[in-house]
Amino acid sequence: MDILGEKFVLDINHEDRIMPREELKERINDVDGLVCLLTDKIDAAIIARGMRLKVISNYAVGYNNIDLVEAAKRKIPVTNTPDVLTETTADLTFGLVLAVARRIVEADHFLRAGQFKGWSPGLMLGTDVHGKTLGIIGMGRIGKAVARRARGFKMKVVYTDTERLAPGIEKELDAGYCTLGELLKESDYVSVHAPLNEHTTRLLSVEEFRNMKKTAYLINVARGKIVDERALADAVQRKEIAGCALDVYENEPSVESGLLKLPNVVLVPHIGSASVEARTEMALMVARNVISVLIENRRPPNIVNPEIYD
Ligand code: GLV
Ligand code: GLV
Repeated sequence: MDILGEKFVLDINHEDRIMPREELKERINDVDGLVCLLTDKIDAAIIARGMRLKVISNYAVGYNNIDLVEAAKRKIPVTNTPDVLTETTADLTFGLVLAVARRIVEADHFLRAGQFKGWSPGLMLGTDVHGKTLGIIGMGRIGKAVARRARGFKMKVVYTDTERLAPGIEKELDAGYCTLGELLKESDYVSVHAPLNEHTTRLLSVEEFRNMKKTAYLINVARGKIVDERALADAVQRKEIAGCALDVYENEPSVESGLLKLPNVVLVPHIGSASVEARTEMALMVARNVISVLIENRRPPNIVNPEIYD
C-alpha cells in the first residue's frame, strides 16, 4: 500500500472484513486498477461495472475467484503471486503431514489439560512419516517443492497431473507418474496441490476416499472445493481413512461440523502462505503488477491471461 500510495489515489477496504458485493459494485466503478484477495469474488457482473478497470492484481497464487472469460472479453490483464509462496506453502504441507501423523496438536492439548502423567510406551502412538509413500495430486510449483521435502524423509513419491513431467524433472524429483486411482490406492499420505477449476471441483469424494488405504491421511492446502468435505468427514468417521489435515475448506470460513469433532483431524485456517517473508514478497509482487500496467504501460510480469495481448 505504501508503494502504490506514492503513485495512486487509493480506495482501501479494511482488512478485517470482506467488502460486500453491492459496495464493491459501486466502488469498482471509477478505479483504474483493482487489488483483490482470494476472498473477493470478482465475477462477470463485478468486472462489467469497472468502467475504467485496466488491471486486476490478485493477492494470491490461486485465481479461481476471478472470471477470466469476462476479463479477457474486456482485455483486462489478471495477475497472481506465484513462486514467492511456493516453499512457504510446501513447509506448511509438511507441518500438516507431521502434525496429523504424530498427533502433535492432540498431544499438545493433552499436555495442557494436565493429563501428562509421565512417559509411557503406549502414549499418543501415531504413524511414521519417513519411508512411507506420498501421493501428490497436482505436480506444479508447490507439488514439486513438497516432493523435494519428501526426499529428506526418505519417502516414495508418486504423482498425478493432467500432464506428465519432462523425464529430466521426473528423475530429479524421483517421482513416479500414475493415474489418480493408482495414487489413491498406493499412498500413505495423499496431498492436494492442484488449482481449482471445472476439472478439479470435488475431484475427491465418496469413491476416492473408499479407494484410499484405511491407514492413509489426506492433506489439502490447495482449495477446499477440490474435496467433498462432507464425504471426507464421513470417511474419517467411518475409519475408511486414518485422518486428514486441512488448510482450506469448501465454504470458508465455515467448516463441516463433522470434522470439528474428530481427534484425528488437524484443521488450520487457510494459512498456507502466511509467513511474514512470503506475504511481504506477495505484496511487492501485487504492487509491481499494478504499476507495470498503469504506469509503465506494459505487460505485467505475473499475468495469468497473456492471450489478451495476442
Ligand atoms: C492462497 O490460497 C493463494 O492462492 O495464494
Ligand atoms: C525416548 O526418549 C528414548 O530415549 O527412547
